[in-house]
Amino acid sequence: RPRVLSGIQPTAGSFHLGNYLGAVRQWVALQDSHDAFYMVVDLHAITVPQEPAELRANTRLAAAQLLAAGLDPDRCTLFVQSHVPEHAQLGWVMNCLTGFGEASRMTQFKDKSARQGSDRATVGLFTYPILQVADILLYQAHQVPVGEDQRQHIELTRDLAERFNGRFGDTFTVPAPYILKETAKIFDLQEPAIKMSKSASTPKGLINLLDEPKATAKKIKSAVTDTDTVIRYDAVEKPGVSNLLTIYSTLTGETIAELEKKYEGKMYGALKTDLAEVMVEFVTPFRTRTQEYLDDPETLDSILAKGAEKARTVAAETLAQAYEKVGLLPAK
Ligand code: TYM
Repeated sequence: RPRVLSGIQPTAGSFHLGNYLGAVRQWVALQDSHDAFYMVVDLHAITVPQEPAELRANTRLAAAQLLAAGLDPDRCTLFVQSHVPEHAQLGWVMNCLTGFGEASRMTQFKDKSARQGSDRATVGLFTYPILQVADILLYQAHQVPVGEDQRQHIELTRDLAERFNGRFGDTFTVPAPYILKETAKIFDLQEPAIKMSKSASTPKGLINLLDEPKATAKKIKSAVTDTDTVIRYDAVEKPGVSNLLTIYSTLTGETIAELEKKYEGKMYGALKTDLAEVMVEFVTPFRTRTQEYLDDPETLDSILAKGAEKARTVAAETLAQAYEKVGLLPAK
């Protein structure tokens, strides 16, 4: 079976709808067809300031949400990045293969550091994508299921894998991005020109999966549309309506064409009311299941411990090969 690997940051509160539709949903779907490794990337999270107790709680919360979303520890390997020290170790090797200019061109770094100011942005934030490269290469992943905003990081991963293989001999699988066109970018409900994100979206534009279902329904109902009245998918002319159709279609399995037909001659309000209901039906059991995992931290921690053990077996082997190729003297 081909292997997939992906990661998600432990954020405060909960995952948002973009995380779920753009990535996590695919992770769940790939569990049976692929040898799947998924992790909560706490080392990536500390590239920006974190309150220690909150980081710990958010890491458990992230794992609980992944399980609630449908990851099954019997069918995939779910773990916490810092439990597998090989990530930091291979990260260092990859740092030493990356050009300073090459790292400087990463657009997520440019955006985030611009927002923080160059004195507050850390070197960790700068090398963030290179740690991500190590994450992926350690598992010899064939595919990496992510949203569109991660494409450049996967490109960097390919470049560095090829560079390492060219310089030291075949070592790493060169991975491909796995990005579904339909859900690659879920947009802000109030500003459908920007992606939905914790940092850029206003509260009304962002759907947090663990929010009160009623509040979520309200956000859908007040989503920005346009002055036209036709319910039709057109990402350029009608970004707001198109975003709602994408969300609706993905959550229900009805195609966009079917939805266009269903809402022919109807008003935007009808679409929003129905989608609000679809959302409530989705988030209500998701919240309950997440809470169940949180209420039983021992089970949660033991799932993560088993996952880390499985992950380490794979990661340690790859790291040993990489160290050897580079010429680091093995410890006897
Ligand atoms: P993160 O935690 O920011 O986001 C997790 C996943 O959600 C996707 N995503 C979206 N997809 C569609 N529309 C949106 N509006 C949207 N917002 C977020 C992201 O593309 C991502 O797939 N750097 C990564 C974490 C990471 C990783 C890795 C990923 C660390 N190591 C190794 C893959 C492989 C990140 O910050 O994702």
